[in-house]
Amino acid sequence: MPDIALIGPGAIGGTLAAWLATHSDNELSICARTPLDTLVVDSPFGVMESRPNVITDPSRAVPVDWVLIATKAYQMESVAKWIPSLSHSDTMFAVIQNGVEHLANLKSIVPKAQVVPVIIDCPAERLAPGRILQRAPIKMTIPKGAASERFASLFPNSNITILQTDDWTTEAWKKLCINSGGAISALLNEPANVVRQSNAADVMRGLIRECIVVARAEGAVIADSVVEEVVAGQAAAPDGAMNSIHADLVEKRPMEWDARNGVIVRLGKKHGVPTPYNEMAVSLLRALEARNTNP
Ligand SMILES: NC(=O)c1ccc[n+]([C@@H]2O[C@H](COP(=O)([O-])OP(=O)(O)OC[C@H]3O[C@@H](n4cnc5c(N)ncnc54)[C@H](OP(=O)(O)O)[C@@H]3O)[C@@H](O)[C@H]2O)c1
Repeated sequence: MPDIALIGPGAIGGTLAAWLATHSDNELSICARTPLDTLVVDSPFGVMESRPNVITDPSRAVPVDWVLIATKAYQMESVAKWIPSLSHSDTMFAVIQNGVEHLANLKSIVPKAQVVPVIIDCPAERLAPGRILQRAPIKMTIPKGAASERFASLFPNSNITILQTDDWTTEAWKKLCINSGGAISALLNEPANVVRQSNAADVMRGLIRECIVVARAEGAVIADSVVEEVVAGQAAAPDGAMNSIHADLVEKRPMEWDARNGVIVRLGKKHGVPTPYNEMAVSLLRALEARNTNP
């Protein structure tokens, strides 16, 4: 079995690490910023408990076959410190994050052929270091290809769904349609179904329409109907359901506004597409973040 290092044992990384530690025979190391002793994940399939090998000092890491990166997108700069000691010439990297810049974020550090970009759907919350509540089964979407086959083989016979797609770009941008529109919850400090109010729904529509135009300029194939599908999906969310950017706001953590809305503005500029809704969302989210993290 391959040696694996997982960087970022938060809600997503901790859930994946718990599965690897309890269901497979690989050598797993967790690269953490905050130390943890045991890893306990309350999942829909039961509690997974383990005592994995945890490293907090990049200079103590050793080369592995696979590096799984599951930090927030804005933490990639600090992730880079782990890469030299974890890498040999054939080390493979999986970037498991929201957004569409999985490959771009590792561009100057790792050859593209050694990176598998992963879109993950799995509502999970970190209750404390090493304590995670996984609310639903994991689904991961990766591009079709030999590297992805190898990534999928890390999770054999599991309750984790792994979809290999011919058009990863489209899948990633479809998810970004949901995530970009989700800014409205953080901006209003209201749960996902706030879009039952027509004014909130109209702002969400504006955010998503811009996302779709930029997505198409980037080569994604997305129908106009996605706008109403996303709004209807959010309106149907149960009372209190909180998306992750809203959860970050409430917990006064930095927010992934750049990976979710800033990217639409940046790539919009590249393609000459105006993105006023997303520009305003970025400005307001930055201001909220600054107020929260520097009270
Ligand atoms: N949570 C969800 O439900 C969900 C669902 C789908 C997709 N996603 C996406 O998945 C990605 C991860 O999200 P998350 O919710 O799992 O985030 P998270 O709970 O904040 O976890 C991030 C983890 O990375 C650690 N970390 C940060 N910098 C590090 C470094 N330099 N070295 C080692 N560890 C480091 C953090 O350590 P500390 O303990 O010190 O903070 C934390 O444990 C994001 O892109 C998110 O949008 C999340």
